Parts: sequence; C-alpha cells; structure tokens
Amino acid sequence: MSFAYRQGALCAEQVPLEEIARRFGTPCYVYSAAAIEAAYQEYAVALRGREALICYSVKANSNLAVLALLARLGAGFDIVSGGELERVLAAGGAPARTLFSGVGKTEAEIALALEKGVGCLNLESESELERVAAIAGKLGRRAPVAFRVNPDIDAQTHRYISTGLQENKFGVAHGDAERLYRRAAALASIEVVGIGCHVGSLMAQAAPFVAAAERLVALVDRLEAAGIRLRHVDVGGGIGIRYRDETPEPIAAFVAGARAALGARRHQLIVDPGRSIVGNAGLLLTRVEYVKPGAGKNFLVVDAAMNDLIRPPLYDAWHEVKTVRESGRTPAVYDIVGPVCESGDFLAQARHLGAQQGDLLALMSAGAYGMAMASNYNSRPRAAEVLVRGSRADLVRSRETPAQLFALERIPG
Ligand code: LLP
Repeated sequence: MSFAYRQGALCAEQVPLEEIARRFGTPCYVYSAAAIEAAYQEYAVALRGREALICYSVKANSNLAVLALLARLGAGFDIVSGGELERVLAAGGAPARTLFSGVGKTEAEIALALEKGVGCLNLESESELERVAAIAGKLGRRAPVAFRVNPDIDAQTHRYISTGLQENKFGVAHGDAERLYRRAAALASIEVVGIGCHVGSLMAQAAPFVAAAERLVALVDRLEAAGIRLRHVDVGGGIGIRYRDETPEPIAAFVAGARAALGARRHQLIVDPGRSIVGNAGLLLTRVEYVKPGAGKNFLVVDAAMNDLIRPPLYDAWHEVKTVRESGRTPAVYDIVGPVCESGDFLAQARHLGAQQGDLLALMSAGAYGMAMASNYNSRPRAAEVLVRGSRADLVRSRETPAQLFALERIPG
C-alpha cells in the first residue's frame, strides 16, 4: 500500500505525512514512487510479448521527477505543447519515443518538435498537415506523422473530458481519414508512420476504448490495402481509476481488448495513459486553518484551495478526504473549503470527519490533474511537491514565493 495508516498515522510508503508537513509545509502534493512504478508495470505486463510502447501522457502530472522516473522505466511520452516537450527532454526522456498530440500546434512548436527529433506528430486537421509539410520542407526534413482519427464513439464520461465524439474538436473525421492519408503519402516532406485515437478520459469500462481500437484497426486495413503502410497504432489513454466506490475494469482488460483488436498484425501498439499511472499515486496534504460552524453547513477551512486542486468545482469530482491522524473524535459533517474568494472554492462537500484546527487532511487520488492544473489565482503560490520512495522523501518542487509570482511583471515608467 502506497498510502496507509501505521500506528494511527497516515504514511506515504514509509514516511509519515506529519513528518512531510513538518519538513516541507502545507499545502503539499505527495507522490509515491512505488505506486507510479506499480501502475506502469501493470501496462508493461499486459503488453508483454507484443511490440508496444507506453507513452505516458505528460499533462496528467508533468513534474520532472515523475517524468524522469518513468523515462528510467522505459516509458515514451505523449505531449501537447512545446513546454511539455522541453520538460520531457529536461527529464531525460527520449524524443524518438515521444508523440506530439493537440489541435493547435504552432509553427514554433512544430519546428521544435522536428529539430528535437520527436517520434511522431499526431495531426488533427488537414491545415495542420499542410503546415507541418511546409515547415519540414523548409528544414530539409521528413516529418513523421500520424492522424488522430475521431472515431465518433461515446466514452461515457464527463462531457468536458469526452473527446471522441463528432461534436468534439479533436481529430480528423473517420470518413476523411483515407483521403488525408493519401494526401500525406504524396508529400515529400511527410513520412506517414502511424494512426491514433483517444476517445475520452476516466473511462470505467473498456468497451468504448476497445470499440475505438477496433474502428481504428479496420481503417488500418483499408489504408494498407490502398498501399499506405503504418508502423504503429496508438489507441490512446483514458483508462479510469477509482476515486470513490467506482469499480473500473482493470488496466489489463483495456490492454487485452486493444491487443485483441490488433490481433497478429505487425504494428507496434501504443497506449498513452496519464491518470491511471499517477492518479492514485498522489495526494494533496493540507492543514485545517479554521473550523467554522454555520447555520446551514459546517466548514473546515483548509490551506489548500481550488487553485491547488480544481477538479471538484470544475468536474464535480469526488476526492476522498482522510484525517492524517486517526482520531477518536466524534465526526461531524463538513464542507472542506479553501481561502479563495469564490463559493466554488471547495475541495469536498458533506464529509463525515473528526477534525479540528491544526489537523492535517489528505485529499486522495490527486496525483493526476492536480498540480498540473494548479494556478496562482488570488496570488497564491503553488504548492510544494514531494516524491517518496521507501523511507525517503525528496522535495521535487519548491513552494513558490510571492515574489516569484510577479517577477515577470513591470510597472511602465
Ligand atoms: N491521450 C490524449 C490524446 C489525451 O488527450 C489525454 C487526456 C490522454 C491521452 C490521457 O488521458 P488519461 O489517461 O489521463 O485519462 N483534466 C481532466 C482530464 C483531461 C484529460 C485530457 N486528455 C481531469 O482532471 O479529469
């Protein structure tokens, strides 16, 4: 267990969270290296015996220490910006094992990707194909590309994170794919290397993921019959995790479905999971500043806020709240709220907790899309990040200082 109670105190691996709060302060993200490695290994084991690549989706948690850990395990990376590419390179990730997705790649980002030797640009429109071809031509290179095909499949998840429907901005239409591949194959500065899709995030069931993979593979067969050969098939990410009492199908079920869709075809199978690698490997550690009884509701005002973890107000997401010290106190019902000046600033609602001022709380399952989506709203310095391995806890990102927040600002003279 990466996060478990030992003698009544919640620990990250061997390290008590109380000690982490003492050393690094709160709010603070805490990650378990063992949990990240175990999740990665689930993919590796499920893919064993097949040519495959696990491209960790950097957007879920882009801390350099997390990326370096995954790079050491042999992971590739799925990126969506020049910034993420720079992070992958800084963390020792291999550009050749990196896929660049996203609907809005700028000229500068495309040039950077080509100069650094990114393995594949996942194109999301015809205009992007023309832009990449022109830039590659100018640089005297051949750009390795795949199209992200929108399979028009409902991932059955929150509408903000559903990406594989016709109405979503992502990918090229399934019906357009063949024409676009023919066009790409005819361009001297383009090298067609693969095909991809991603239907949505936080999928509990493998069925939509597998259905998308099957549609993609049918398209691969048609393209190959038309003389367009591909090296890889990227079936995307989106595998769900347990936040509350959901029972998502195991990673192995998703991977087995994709493997079956591809059958004995020679293509490299690529997956790009984010949340399922880091989500349950992290928590947000926070301290109760005030207990505020109210007429309608009781509040625990904590030192973390929506700027640290936006998922609850943004997606109505549910994160489990644990008291760091197992207490014998009689629980009451609280909303856990932060100091930000918005009524939407809540981290959890209507929770039974025995807590008092000064106590530490842990918001669980916060390893994915937690710090990665944090902001400086209300001029709040972003939280520190700590990576635990066994009995060792390392600060992997310092808490920002207020001066750093306005260091780039100027008052015109
Ligand atoms: N591949 C592509 C092309 C993606 O767009 C995404 C996520 C992933 C892979 C990784 O998906 P995952 O395995 O992490 O589900 N902020 C939201 C999630 C947004 C996901 C965006 N795309 C949240 O906090 O739930």
